[in-house]
Amino acid sequence: MKFVVFFVATVLVASQCHGASFRSFPLQMPTGYGAGASYDDVRCASWRLAVEAQNIFGFQTIPERCVESTAAYIEGGQYQSDSKTVNQQVFFYASDLKIQDNDVVIFNVDGTVLSNVPYYSQHGYGSEKFNSTRYDEEFVNKGDAPALPETLINYNKLLGLGVKIVFLTGRLTDKKAVTEANLRKAGFHTWEKLILKEPSNNQNSVEYKSTERGRLVQQGYRIIANVADQWSSLKGRNQGLRSFKLPNPMYYIQ
Ligand SMILES: *[C@@H]1O[C@H](CO)[C@@H](O)[C@H](O)[C@H]1NC(C)=O
Repeated sequence: MKFVVFFVATVLVASQCHGASFRSFPLQMPTGYGAGASYDDVRCASWRLAVEAQNIFGFQTIPERCVESTAAYIEGGQYQSDSKTVNQQVFFYASDLKIQDNDVVIFNVDGTVLSNVPYYSQHGYGSEKFNSTRYDEEFVNKGDAPALPETLINYNKLLGLGVKIVFLTGRLTDKKAVTEANLRKAGFHTWEKLILKEPSNNQNSVEYKSTERGRLVQQGYRIIANVADQWSSLKGRNQGLRSFKLPNPMYYIQ
């Protein structure tokens, strides 16, 4: 009797699933990408996913037809949600560790702790070619970049666990004072180190950051996590125990 009831129930559930909620492959795509979604919405979401997964890399500008879609992604809440998800995972992971005195989490600065969306929103969300002079003049030197809100929350929670914070940035050493002031203004009040790049240093980002992480290890720190919006901040040597890639669909740093 039990068997019969189970059998009937299984058939019922299976037939309902089959009838209602599963579509068969191949998905029907010839006339569009579903209710309300434009070709650009869908194709540009694929572009962003491929950028995050590093299947697309080395680009100088985002596709022109993705400007609107990127603006909607950044301003519309999805960017913040993606940023929140990654930051939460950093914290969940760190909470499970037995934090030692020499444990550090490394954060990149621009696009990771300080938001440069105010700049990029004025410059085509990455569709304009990057101009470092203009970026410094209009953004870095002003020193009033806001925090990326989800990173700030995570930063405070990590400090609460007893983790030390290292900021490792490609900004040059002549930007030290303005960067420190900006970090404080944005709510990042304490750190173990802020490492900036010497102007004479010709290394690319991967080399420079690998070398600096190596120095930290030599000094006795344990890098429990490295958090950045660019793969070039995460790749290379001395990666630490874990890497966390924050979203950034607007630019790619080699
Ligand atoms: C970069 O920006 C500076 C300052 O705004 C400007 O003078 C210069 O012409 C720009 N360079 C290019 C290649 O657009």
